Amino acid sequence: MIKYNEKNRTIKLDTPDTSYVLGIRDGGFLLNLYYGRRLPDDNLWSLSKRLESASFSPCDPEYTDFSTDVAPMEYPVNGRGDFRVSALSVRNSDGNTVTDLRYVSHRIFSGKPDMPGLPHLYVSNGSQCDTLEITMRDSYTGLEAVLVYSVFNDCNVISKHVRLTNTSDSVLKLERALSSCIDLPSMDYNLITLWGRHAKERQFEKRPLAHGLQGIHSKRGSSSHSHNPFAALVGRDVTETNGDVYGFNLIYSGNFTFTAEVDHNASVRIVTGIDPTDFGWVLEPSESFTTPEAVHVFSCEGLGGMSRTFHRCYQEHLIRGRWKNEKRPLLINSWEAAYFDFDTDKLISFAERAKELGIEMLVMDDGWFGKRNDDTNSLGDWFVNEKKLDLGRLVDSVHAMGLKFGIWYEPEMISPDSELYRAHPDWCVHVPGREPSIARQQYVLDVSRADVRENVFGQIKNVLSRYPIDYVKWDFNRNLSEAGSALLSKDRGGEFFHRFVLGTYELQNRLVTEFPDILLENCSGGGGRFDAGMLYYSPQIWTSDNTDPVERLNIQFGTSLCYPASVMGAHVSACERTDYRTKGDVALWGTFGYELDPNKLTSEERETVKEQVKEYHKYYDLIRNGNLYRLICPWDNPFVCAWSFVSTDKREALVTLVRMRKEENTLLHLKLQGLDENTVYTVEETGERYSGALLMYAGLEMTGCAYNDGESLKLHLIAD
Ligand code: DGJ
Repeated sequence: MIKYNEKNRTIKLDTPDTSYVLGIRDGGFLLNLYYGRRLPDDNLWSLSKRLESASFSPCDPEYTDFSTDVAPMEYPVNGRGDFRVSALSVRNSDGNTVTDLRYVSHRIFSGKPDMPGLPHLYVSNGSQCDTLEITMRDSYTGLEAVLVYSVFNDCNVISKHVRLTNTSDSVLKLERALSSCIDLPSMDYNLITLWGRHAKERQFEKRPLAHGLQGIHSKRGSSSHSHNPFAALVGRDVTETNGDVYGFNLIYSGNFTFTAEVDHNASVRIVTGIDPTDFGWVLEPSESFTTPEAVHVFSCEGLGGMSRTFHRCYQEHLIRGRWKNEKRPLLINSWEAAYFDFDTDKLISFAERAKELGIEMLVMDDGWFGKRNDDTNSLGDWFVNEKKLDLGRLVDSVHAMGLKFGIWYEPEMISPDSELYRAHPDWCVHVPGREPSIARQQYVLDVSRADVRENVFGQIKNVLSRYPIDYVKWDFNRNLSEAGSALLSKDRGGEFFHRFVLGTYELQNRLVTEFPDILLENCSGGGGRFDAGMLYYSPQIWTSDNTDPVERLNIQFGTSLCYPASVMGAHVSACERTDYRTKGDVALWGTFGYELDPNKLTSEERETVKEQVKEYHKYYDLIRNGNLYRLICPWDNPFVCAWSFVSTDKREALVTLVRMRKEENTLLHLKLQGLDENTVYTVEETGERYSGALLMYAGLEMTGCAYNDGESLKLHLIAD
């Protein structure tokens, strides 16, 4: 719900449990008065009292009791006395970046506007959403900024983005155009972010805020392995269950920034949006630019509360299409089983064995196209390597067994040794006077160009229309360097990275629109593009190339801060770190599947796999639709970790515990979360009965359980 108080000139945005308050001050300054736990509607202007003490006003001699240098500015600009990090920087026709945005008007309406070309939250059936649009204008330059906020009635989420329009007769150049800014009147927070690298994605990191700038960014052309476009500001003593948490996520797959700045008054500003480093955008008269959408979650129930809000929001308001709610097939992928070394019969044998185990889909990974038998060639040649493969026979055989069939692509890449490169060497991403760098033996294809997209989509479509394919894995295995496009004029060089991302979105949108039944899974050298932008097109993303179940725990725990179980690609592989039971228990957290040669399983392992397949079906709804509780996190305890899924009606729970490292003589009482304290639960595996209160407040006595390195244990609780 969004309310405007005309007398006080405040606008209050309420979600079920949170409030966000804006104030329009004399002179049209738009202030961010409050964000946090839900407030009543009265006395809101008192929130601005702390500002009155500021007397220094470099901004405007008319308003001497007010300073943009300390005020919580809602969309801060450059050059008018706010010296902290800005959300917007615009170079005007005089050559300076001095900008002064003042409130002009606002409107509140039901629903949520579309964001053409960009992924965004949407209003799903049965839910309600209200939107506030505030128009701000710089009367000297003619720049207009429309700040767009949406609140949903079914989750504690506020989304924000900005539409910038040049209403003048001269050219304006955006040098920084971020999506959101929050000012909080304290620096007593820790900043949590998710760093990583290949095979070690989304590792939890917490640091206390310090004066000055701190944060994360990507200028790799994608959201990247290095940092996820997620950040949280949390109270100093926040836990999984208690304390104030502000969580921020950007629905974007390209260069991004999260920058927090603590100023001389010990208040913090956090801004997010497209990373300004290599960004620039020319706005001709009457042209507009729309920033990506940022998602804000406030929870007073600790990190767990924040995560569950993101999860529900993304399941309801981000993931689209047939596979949003339809049960996804349990798959086996050929990559770790065969790498490039396969032919039709080998893949058919995988499918035959997989069928016996109850697996429902075979995915043929990299190596089926052009002349590809290793990673040195053929990206861009998306036609079947007929010397290696009879795709028609393969798909028909797999379908005849009752299995679905999936295929791998890497559409934004081009090998120097490919027919496409020989025909169009200028189609790779490059700039004049520099040799493009090669990484994993490949260049990047310039998908910012419509003609390039047309070609690559045409090739993909050819295969998908000719063969009845059920699933596509969309990979992206290198970062962008020497980034430029032959079609962009010199003054528009800074537009390249964003145009590249828009090109990817257009391609993925075409795929899911023209082939709505295909299940799309994104991937990027493992989980290098695991972001909310990708989730708008694909309901699942490959989490990491690291399938070692113990290493995976850190990755999955970190990923779960923001992203739900239903999107987290997780497979059991032949990795020897633990037995199949633990591998299965860890993969069950995600989409679940296999990444191994089923011909090589021992008969005992085959029986375990059959059991796991049964468990996959048994717990499918609980894991997809239940609430996640991180019970013991690997960043708090290096020896053991535990998590649970609890059904929304609290009638059922699945608890999993994994011993990462053996620890002698240590007691373990596992305190559960999210149960009903007055309900009695039976542990299916042991028949023991406990009240929800005992399980949550005293904890389950588990000393000595899953005792050895890499052992795991699952408990299924059922309410009376
Ligand atoms: C990287 C992916 O993460 C792997 O799963 C696999 O698809 C390879 N690329 C194929 O080149």
